[in-house]
Amino acid sequence: MAGSSTTAPARRLADRKTKTPASITTSPFSDPATQQRLLDLVHSAFSAAFAHPDTLAATVQQVKRHLYDRDYLSAFSSPDYLLAYFLRWSPARALAYLSVVGDLCAPTVPDFLLGRRRSAKSRSKRVLCIGGGAGGEVLAFTCLVRMLRASDVHVLALDIADWNGVFSRLRDGISTSSAFLPSSSSKSTELDTPFTDVKLEFTQLDVLDSSALDFSTFGLLTMLFTTNELFAQSKPRAIAFLRHLSATCLPGTLLLVLESAGSYSNITVGTKIFPLHYLLDHTLTSGDTPSWRILKQDDAAWFRLESSGLRYPLQLENMRFFLRFYEHL
Ligand SMILES: C[S@@+](CC[C@H](N)C(=O)[O-])C[C@H]1O[C@@H](n2cnc3c(N)ncnc32)[C@H](O)[C@@H]1O
Repeated sequence: MAGSSTTAPARRLADRKTKTPASITTSPFSDPATQQRLLDLVHSAFSAAFAHPDTLAATVQQVKRHLYDRDYLSAFSSPDYLLAYFLRWSPARALAYLSVVGDLCAPTVPDFLLGRRRSAKSRSKRVLCIGGGAGGEVLAFTCLVRMLRASDVHVLALDIADWNGVFSRLRDGISTSSAFLPSSSSKSTELDTPFTDVKLEFTQLDVLDSSALDFSTFGLLTMLFTTNELFAQSKPRAIAFLRHLSATCLPGTLLLVLESAGSYSNITVGTKIFPLHYLLDHTLTSGDTPSWRILKQDDAAWFRLESSGLRYPLQLENMRFFLRFYEHL
């Protein structure tokens, strides 16, 4: 995950070589006006933190140093660090994820959120975001749900770190914001009754300890920039987790994995080095009875926020990622 902000007032998704190429698109989900609304939602929900820009900038620098050293335990070790991480990195990720789920994974993800998927067992509009405590996925799904005019969607973010503070502030900001709602709904801008189109929940849990977790109630699971960390913690437990996931998900369940493209996502097994997406494909889709099939794949795609026009107090970064979008058989 890297890249620098550039200047043109548009965002572009440029694909690299892929079996099923992602398309360059200018949909409502990647429109600059949509993106600005999402950023404004964050800005207004966290206005208190932005009121002290020097303190925030200093904390962001400390977190950045820990991330650079790949010292994730330290990077996520205090409420101030978590807040700074969220404000600095999650909004840009949310913009990328909105484009991924709204455009690249269309029509499957939008159809799922609208309850239009044919497989009866995948009708539950429950989304599980593994490693999603930092809020990027939650923001993206909220915007997508509202833009699609979907309803009764339940998003559960599960994370090993204690994101409770940031998450509940974000949820309050979302539930009292009329952003992305039809203009008739937004007439009552200062809301007495929070909107209920999307229910947002957070659970603090080590997913590698999740042998008792039943994934069968979810129709869509995401692991966005989390799988590398799971493999770094323990390769055997990460593989066991993927097998447990495969064993408990129902047919028709969707699984979206994004991770850094390139050598950052290489995993050493014995004396050999494998790209993470190769290990994922091997674990999930090969063997005599494969559990999943690939709906969409891309080994290296860019999400570019080339927008000097977007207003947000902190830097917004481009994102390079690999994508795997699976369906359970
Ligand atoms: C690089 S961050 C990505 C956050 C978010 N998914 C995003 O894309 O913006 C990785 C996240 O995975 C979480 N995580 C790491 N190991 C985990 C585990 N064993 N169980 C659950 N969450 C984990 C971290 O706490 C962190 O929030």
